[in-house]
Amino acid sequence: MIIINKRNLFFLISVWLLSTLLSAQNVTISTPHTQLLLSVPNGGTPEQLYYGSRTSDADIRSICETARRRNAYPVYGMGYPCETALSVRHADGNLTLQMAVIGVKETRLTKENATLTVIELKDKVYPFFVNICYKAWQDADVIETWTEIRHEEKKPVQLQQFASAYLPVRRGNVWLSHLSGAWANEGQLCQEALQPGMKVIKNTDGVRNSQSAHAEVMFSLDGKPQENTGRVIGAALCYSGNYKLRIDTQEDDWHHFLAGINEENSWYNLKKEEVFRTPALALTYSDEGMSGCSRKFHQWARLHKLANGNTPRKILLNSWEGVYFDINEQGMDQMMGDIAAMGGELFVMDDGWFGDKYPRKNDSYALGDWTVDKTKLPGGLQSLLDNARKHGIRFGIWLEPEMANTKSELYEKHPEWIIKAPEREVVCARGGTQVVLDLSNPQVQDFIVQTVDELMNSYPDIDYIKWDANASIMNYGSYYLPKDRQSHLYIEYHKGLNNVLERIRTKYPHLLMQACASGGSRVNYGLLPYFGEFWTSDNTDAYQRIYMQWGVSNFYPAIAMASHVSADKNHQTGRRTPLKFRFDVAMSGRLGMEMQPKDMTDGDKEFAKRAIKAYKEIRPIVQHGDLYRLVSPYDKVGFASLMYATPEKDKAVFFAYRMEYLLNQVTPRVRMTGLDPDKQYKLIDMTPLKENKKNFLDGKVLSGKLLLEEGVEVPFSGEYSSVVMQLIEVK
Ligand code: DGJ
Repeated sequence: MIIINKRNLFFLISVWLLSTLLSAQNVTISTPHTQLLLSVPNGGTPEQLYYGSRTSDADIRSICETARRRNAYPVYGMGYPCETALSVRHADGNLTLQMAVIGVKETRLTKENATLTVIELKDKVYPFFVNICYKAWQDADVIETWTEIRHEEKKPVQLQQFASAYLPVRRGNVWLSHLSGAWANEGQLCQEALQPGMKVIKNTDGVRNSQSAHAEVMFSLDGKPQENTGRVIGAALCYSGNYKLRIDTQEDDWHHFLAGINEENSWYNLKKEEVFRTPALALTYSDEGMSGCSRKFHQWARLHKLANGNTPRKILLNSWEGVYFDINEQGMDQMMGDIAAMGGELFVMDDGWFGDKYPRKNDSYALGDWTVDKTKLPGGLQSLLDNARKHGIRFGIWLEPEMANTKSELYEKHPEWIIKAPEREVVCARGGTQVVLDLSNPQVQDFIVQTVDELMNSYPDIDYIKWDANASIMNYGSYYLPKDRQSHLYIEYHKGLNNVLERIRTKYPHLLMQACASGGSRVNYGLLPYFGEFWTSDNTDAYQRIYMQWGVSNFYPAIAMASHVSADKNHQTGRRTPLKFRFDVAMSGRLGMEMQPKDMTDGDKEFAKRAIKAYKEIRPIVQHGDLYRLVSPYDKVGFASLMYATPEKDKAVFFAYRMEYLLNQVTPRVRMTGLDPDKQYKLIDMTPLKENKKNFLDGKVLSGKLLLEEGVEVPFSGEYSSVVMQLIEVK
């Protein structure tokens, strides 16, 4: 007879637990420095065991034996009374799901340098299937995860909740960092300790999705977020439409993170055999703080998520703040000549160049009528392109292809192409007449592709398109979608948009396009594969840009962040700042200008010329180097500082900005990061006000060790002073 006491009970449980663990199939998904560990027992529930830095085989075995497990994709209806990733109404009205593993497939995607792991699930009763997919990049520390949902039931199944992914984050002192804001104040960094309750970050605009909240977050696992230390998980939903991120913290030991399309007013009636693919959630992990996490996102973005991520971006002048709608041939020629003389490489003609029956004299007319306004530009686009060539620069153009004005020939011809319920009157946006085209309609998709085709076929020299989008969905409803698919509009709009952009990208792979949407409303990883950059904000005030660019840099690389020097005084805030400060801020992103050069003094033009020359020198480091954020403007210590370094650590650029100016104010030394302690670096002042008046650090050779451990005194002078120093290894 076996007497069961506490000791051998423990032994028996351990043996049972171990044999269960060993019989369960474990799947390891790895990138160069990170790892996700899952248990996928055949016929059982897939579970997540670990997500963090890459570990040894021995540690993986230990994790399997000891880790607390969480359902890898919780579904609604059977034994899971918590927030779920998926809930449906089956064809027969049943609301429950019970998914079990039926297979695991691993494929090497050689061309992409990634591995794809698919966990196949089937409901225990219904012919309802979910594939959980994990794409692990082998040259960047990002794992993308999404689901593919389908069924073989007789009638449509309604998807009521369909998150892309679920990630359990172990409770402790976990902090959330995310971006929020408003028009002209986008990308504000918000940080908070996660508390019990539900935190929801979502978007309902329909067309654009980052004017206020963003679909990217970081979880700092070791207390208050630090830039260069501590463990951090980063997550970015790669989607251009309405999204919802949920972080649910209840009575148990986990923060439950769920991310996906916002299902509100978007219930999806899935037909038999149709596959519903959710957008990918990109996950990364770093033990080098938030900056470490950012560097991983940036590297992945440049390699895989950004159109032409390896091509340096040109220095441009955009016409908007210089002339607004007042476009004419002579004015464009003058601006092109001026930017060329300052060393710029591209001129972009913004809004106001088009419209025949309804000339675009202001924002109430002509969207949709993409023909040149011959009164403003009698020589047409060809003459502008010829002038650009004459000045030795490239030419780009503004479009807002997803929109129309009710005062346009397009609307007169196709009133049924706009988004609106047939029975309702039109609610208009910008200019009192702006409406959104119904991109769920393939005819509308073709029209947009044709618009770009006609432009590019007639003028193959066009080098750049600024693709704007200045309205939200205000009229809910579609002439095109059938009655039982009206609730698909938000989703179909973005499928349509992706289709259009995919076709354009395939035809014109080298054309650089900027994602603009009333400023920074389209900063998302759903659209970036089609665009090379985004317009960060309509607010070009350098001072306020420091906050916005700092926020956005958490998830997006400098090469994608359009940052323009604008007029003094600034058109949005009325603030007056020195030209040097404006350049120094814009040079930490993708440098451009957004002002009327003919209003600049000769001295200003001279400075701009030198600053542009300096940017060309540091451009490879800023646009392709590693970012280290040093002193946050949000910490309110009177200044902000960041730097970029090459991966080889032989070159770096250091930026510092005075955020507050008080007499005899104490300014701490700034310790640098990202340098090699064993190297010697020469410091070069890149943007002195006068060529012969460089700051006191210029020309000094300092060791990496000193710069890392002791730092430097920042050579600030007065209000709105700023510094751009290049560091070059001295052998
Ligand atoms: C909004 C954009 O954000 C601006 O840069 C400018 O292009 C205007 N639209 C033009 O209408």
